[in-house]
Amino acid sequence: MSLNPTLIPPHWYHDPKIFALEQELIGSKAWHYVGLTEKLAEPGDYFAAKIGEVPIVVVRDRKGNLRAFVNVCKHRGAEIILESKPGNAQLLMCHYHAWTWDLEGNFKSAPGMKITDGVEKERLALKPLKVQTLDRFVFVSLDANAVPWTQLVGQLPELLQASGTDFKSLVYRGAKAFPMKANWKLVVENFLECYHCPISHPSFTKLIDINKYTVTPYEYFSVQQGTAKAGTVDATYDSQPLNQVGYYNYLWPFFMVNTYPGLPNASTNLVIPIDADHTVAIYEFFLDERIKAPHDQEIIDLIKEVQEEDVVIVESVHRGLRSGYYKEGRLMLEKENGVAHFQNLVLKALESSAAPGPSR
Ligand code: FES
Ligand SMILES: [Fe+2]
Repeated sequence: MSLNPTLIPPHWYHDPKIFALEQELIGSKAWHYVGLTEKLAEPGDYFAAKIGEVPIVVVRDRKGNLRAFVNVCKHRGAEIILESKPGNAQLLMCHYHAWTWDLEGNFKSAPGMKITDGVEKERLALKPLKVQTLDRFVFVSLDANAVPWTQLVGQLPELLQASGTDFKSLVYRGAKAFPMKANWKLVVENFLECYHCPISHPSFTKLIDINKYTVTPYEYFSVQQGTAKAGTVDATYDSQPLNQVGYYNYLWPFFMVNTYPGLPNASTNLVIPIDADHTVAIYEFFLDERIKAPHDQEIIDLIKEVQEEDVVIVESVHRGLRSGYYKEGRLMLEKENGVAHFQNLVLKALESSAAPGPSR
């Protein structure tokens, strides 16, 4: 068993200057999970979301392609589409004074005005953003030079497909936000290892054989596999074989999608950095429609229970790191290789900046 120093200095977990750098060098360049493809099933479907402070809108255009735009009106700056009002239309119409754009982002009209000048019209076009999908999950980047999507996701689409869960067949069963007094990197790092599972997650450890647990890092994502203990998961349900392996997938920098062994289920976990000391994790739950009460709630309750246990941990680590008495940590690499992989990605993202490096 080898012990290696942690790669990120402790103050990076609570320093507002580092947080600002991360916003610039990680957040603004990232691919962000913004919603589900089923909200964009038909041409003309649209929904609004936010990436940090930036309102965005995603639409399915007339040809059936997904498009994303900055959702800020060229007239007086309102959000064109309100987040609370997804819909379907031939034109995107600002809710303030009814200026309109087509589904390709071209300016169409402003009530009471005739804008015919081509240059002016071009100026009034919506700013396009990059949009991609991973199974039923839609991602948008604000940065034209973001890591190319295919490089970011690598083999993840195939691995998700091979995991035995048909994500698109599962029914959305609600969401829950978990606010935490902890830096976002602690939330991600905690997700990336199960070294803490036997002591922190009794219900999870009853289900999963921790001795067989694996963490496999790739370039920009990692996959954890947890096999159910013998006898904890039935072989079949409704004559369909049940997954005996759970997958806990992390995609740099803020997205996770998980499946537990047993009745078909999935959950996403979107990590939203608020400031250097605060993070919100938003979970969404998906279940096979055949799962009836009380099994449906039992699955969701287990996922929530594990996350609530993690909130206690990451808030505690955050207090420890802020104490001034944690100068450099250690990683138990056999089980914390996913943490080292993540810390390397953070270092790589920040290395172009003047961020003070690890103090050795
Ligand atoms: S602010 Fe959008 S039409 Fe006026
Ligand atoms: Fe945990």
